[in-house]
Amino acid sequence: MSNAYVSVEGIARRYPGATIFEDLWFSVNRGEFVCLVGHSGCGKTTVLNILAGLEAPSDGVVIVDGQEISGPSLDRAVIFQGHALMPWMTAEQNVAFALSCRHPSWPKAKLREAAQAALEKVGLGHAAQKKPAQLSGGMKQRVGIARALAIAPKMLLMDEPFSALDALTRGALQEEVSRLVTEADQTAFMITHDVDEAILLADRILLMTNGPDARLAEVVVNTLPRPRDRANLHHMPGYHELRDHILDFLITRSRTLAGKQPAGWDPKAVPEVRPAAPQITPPPPRAAA
Ligand SMILES: Nc1ncnc2c1ncn2[C@@H]1O[C@H](COP(=O)(O)OP(=O)(O)OP(=O)(O)O)[C@@H](O)[C@H]1O
Ligand SMILES: [Mg+2]
Repeated sequence: MSNAYVSVEGIARRYPGATIFEDLWFSVNRGEFVCLVGHSGCGKTTVLNILAGLEAPSDGVVIVDGQEISGPSLDRAVIFQGHALMPWMTAEQNVAFALSCRHPSWPKAKLREAAQAALEKVGLGHAAQKKPAQLSGGMKQRVGIARALAIAPKMLLMDEPFSALDALTRGALQEEVSRLVTEADQTAFMITHDVDEAILLADRILLMTNGPDARLAEVVVNTLPRPRDRANLHHMPGYHELRDHILDFLITRSRTLAGKQPAGWDPKAVPEVRPAAPQITPPPPRAAA
C-alpha cells in the first residue's frame, strides 16, 4: 500500500480563455511536509484551495485517505495568509469555536481549557482574552496556528502564513511551526515565496513554472538532516547547493520552462532532484601503465 495521504491526480483549473494549470500530479505522504514554490499568479493558492476542498478542479481528482474529496473537512485545516479570525471573538473564543465544530459534545469548560492549552503551545497563554484588534500581526497569526493545530487535523494546509510579518516575527514563527509539526509528525502542505522557509520546513519542495499553463517542473528532495534551525541552516553541508538550485529555478527556469512541455514529458513522473545530497566524487582515472 502506498504511504500517500493525499494523491493529486491530474488536476486542472481553467477559466474561460485561460488555463491556469493542467494535469498536475503529486502526492503528500503521511507525516511529510511538502512546500509549493512558484511565482505570483501561477496557481498555488488555487492548488491549495482544491486540496482544502474550497474549490473544485476543472478536471482530475484529489484522493485523501483513500477517498475522493468533495468539500472542506476538519481533517484538513487551513492557515491563511491573513489570519482570518473572527474579530468579535477573543483569541480563546476563536480557538474554542473551531474546537466546538470538531467536538460538538464537549461542554464549554472543556472547550475553554483546550483552547487555552492550544494558545499556550504557541506562546499566547497570556493573550487568550484579547480580541484580534488588540493583537499584533504576529500574535494574530499565532492564534490562527493555534486554532488549526487545536483540532488535530490530519493535514495542515498553509498559504504563505508568514508573508505579512516582519522578518523577526516570521523567523520565530517558522521555528515554532517547525517544532510543533515535527513533534506531532504532522502532514503538511505549504505555499511559500521564501526559499529559506521552504528549506527549513520541507521534506520535498515542488517547483511550479510560471503561468498560464503552469506545470510542476521538478520535485526537489530536501536531504538536509533534521532538526534544522534557522541559526545553523546555512552551515549545513549542501545548504548552498539546495538554495542555489531553487533560486536558479525561480530566477530563470520558472520562466524559460513556462508553457513548454518537453518531448516525452510525463506529468505523472516529475523528475526528482537532490541538490544537497552528498556529492560522491569519482576516483581519478588511473595513469596508464
Ligand atoms: N475568476 C477568475 N477568472 C480568471 N482568472 C482567474 C480567476 N481567479 C483567479 N484567476 C487567475 O488564476 C491564476 C492563479 O491564481 P492563484 O491565486 O492561484 O495564484 P498564486 O500562485 O497563488 O499567486 P500569488 O503568489 O500571487 O498568491 C492567476 O493568474 C489569476 O489571475
Ligand atoms: Mg496565492
